[in-house]
Amino acid sequence: MKITEEQVLSALRTVDDPDLKKDLVSLNMIENIIIRDQSIAFTVVLTTPACPLKEKIKSDCIKAIKKSLGEDLLITINMTSNVNTTRSQAINVLPSVKNIICIASGKGGVGKSTIAVNLAVELANQGAKVGLIDADIHGPSIPTMLGIKGKKPAVREIKGKNYILPYEINENLKVLSIGLLVDERQAIVWRGAMVTSAIKQFITDCIWGQLDYLFIDMPPGTGDVHLTMVQTVPVTGAIIVTTPQEIALADARKALSMFRMPSINVPIIGVIENMAYFTPAELPENKYYIFGNGGGKALADEYEVPFLGQIPLIQAIREGGDGGFPITMMEKNLANAAFEDIAQNAAREISIRNANNPPTEKVEILA
Ligand SMILES: Nc1ncnc2c1ncn2[C@@H]1O[C@H](COP(=O)(O)OP(=O)(O)O)[C@@H](O)[C@H]1O
Ligand SMILES: [Mg+2]
Repeated sequence: MKITEEQVLSALRTVDDPDLKKDLVSLNMIENIIIRDQSIAFTVVLTTPACPLKEKIKSDCIKAIKKSLGEDLLITINMTSNVNTTRSQAINVLPSVKNIICIASGKGGVGKSTIAVNLAVELANQGAKVGLIDADIHGPSIPTMLGIKGKKPAVREIKGKNYILPYEINENLKVLSIGLLVDERQAIVWRGAMVTSAIKQFITDCIWGQLDYLFIDMPPGTGDVHLTMVQTVPVTGAIIVTTPQEIALADARKALSMFRMPSINVPIIGVIENMAYFTPAELPENKYYIFGNGGGKALADEYEVPFLGQIPLIQAIREGGDGGFPITMMEKNLANAAFEDIAQNAAREISIRNANNPPTEKVEILA
């Protein structure tokens, strides 16, 4: 008996994307079905290349087809991705950027920049097109962390107007920091208006091209730059970074509450707990909760937002930052395993957010 495309589709209608909670056919995730006698090939288009459930979805598809059409079939599945978005080509600011994600915290020094850099590198490693803006104008640390201090981004003139080209770390990762445009020591004495206009330029006068994720490493707190960001461009969501101790959590609550304010209304993608515990190399089974235990998870629960995971306190993370060679660029080890998990969790929560929530509105006026 000849198998038809319709039979394959109806078998795949019984397979749900576990996160988006709909079947793969209704989600338009099945493409390119080819049937030759007893062999079936097709493509599954995931909503992120960093999908943690790739293998599960694949084996669920195989099981469903074998169950309804025959155990002896030869099934070949090609897994690709097309990152989902709520941003449309019709918007005038950064229309070809699918997701704009602020990395924020209340307190400084909790590891925002470290996490922004490593999330960006990790998602680029996994095949996403990623951009990274260092919006911490008063303490731009991204040039140091990526080893690109002193590199000058190119400028291109289009119709009499100058545009900045972000610095390309590799084919999947582009970066822009005020530290690349002016001397760091100069930026520190800038006045508020200059800071906000620099941030606006990073978004409106910079050629980012097609990006799946644009991460913004925010300054600590809840100040001017935050308001400028949400007024310049509709932000897809915010990731909150905290360390476990109470004074960091108290400030993280303020940051969460700011994004939640009805007049701002930026969805929270999740909370990351950094410096969660210390494990000495010679005692790999031991975990020392130097700053307290479980604070990040408790914060996520309190605000009913996803908890994206913990990153331990590891010397190599600090060395990677200071040395301009992020740990996620190194061979697989304990520390970058944590970043891999967190990057996948973040990508997953972004795609759930896009499937379930309307686009963020740009903030017009703030009372
Ligand atoms: N998990 C970690 N383990 C070890 N050192 C870390 C970790 N996270 C951050 N650091 C270090 O702590 C310092 C502050 O981190 P940074 O990312 O600059 O914080 P922020 O951007 O929030 O001010 C940096 O020297 C960084 O290398
Ligand atoms: Mg920083």
